Amino acid sequence: MTKVHVFDHPLIQHKLTYIRDINTGTKEFRELVDEVATLMAYEITRDLPLKEVEVETPVCKATSKILAGKKLGIVPILRAGIGMVDGILNLIPAAKVGHIGLYRDPETLLPIEYYVKLPSDVSERDFILVDPMLATGGSAIEAVNSLKKRGAKNIKFMCLIAAPEGVKALTEAHPDVDVYIAALDEKLDEKGYIVPGLGDAGDRLFGTK
Ligand code: URA
Repeated sequence: MTKVHVFDHPLIQHKLTYIRDINTGTKEFRELVDEVATLMAYEITRDLPLKEVEVETPVCKATSKILAGKKLGIVPILRAGIGMVDGILNLIPAAKVGHIGLYRDPETLLPIEYYVKLPSDVSERDFILVDPMLATGGSAIEAVNSLKKRGAKNIKFMCLIAAPEGVKALTEAHPDVDVYIAALDEKLDEKGYIVPGLGDAGDRLFGTK
């Protein structure tokens, strides 16, 4: 059964408000997405396994804990997912980074894979799949299919803003994938934008229109 985690930490919510704001320019938008991705990565890594080691402090010998060295992979869905990668790498710099590119078929409106590059040891890694917006869920579902097809067994999906429609679609299609979001918004509009959302995440990150 999927778990859906909404990160209501005050710092995340504060920064998200400025990310949503139409008056926030590209530079600041990018910086804020980066910061929120770091804060979300802090929360999402809570269950990383630890192991005990001996350490000598200036006072005495002690037993203390370090990360057990689980192999992690971060996979942004192109292109907007790229905006969240560096923020996550701030906390887990040894993670490998894969990429998945999808486009929407103009006739069927279904997402089609056009680019996939993943670390070679896919089946040994836990993955954090990232995309700032979970709208219809189509791209996220296809990206998880893509990871699973190549051997990924443990996948978490992380986004800034989700629509209820996207959460429902993703959790029904992939009940084993936990979903981590900063805000659950109201709905999708007729053009597929999340309401109230933040507009087009890719355009706002890269300054395109
Ligand atoms: N993708 C975006 O960038 N924004 C939305 O609101 C929905 C999908």
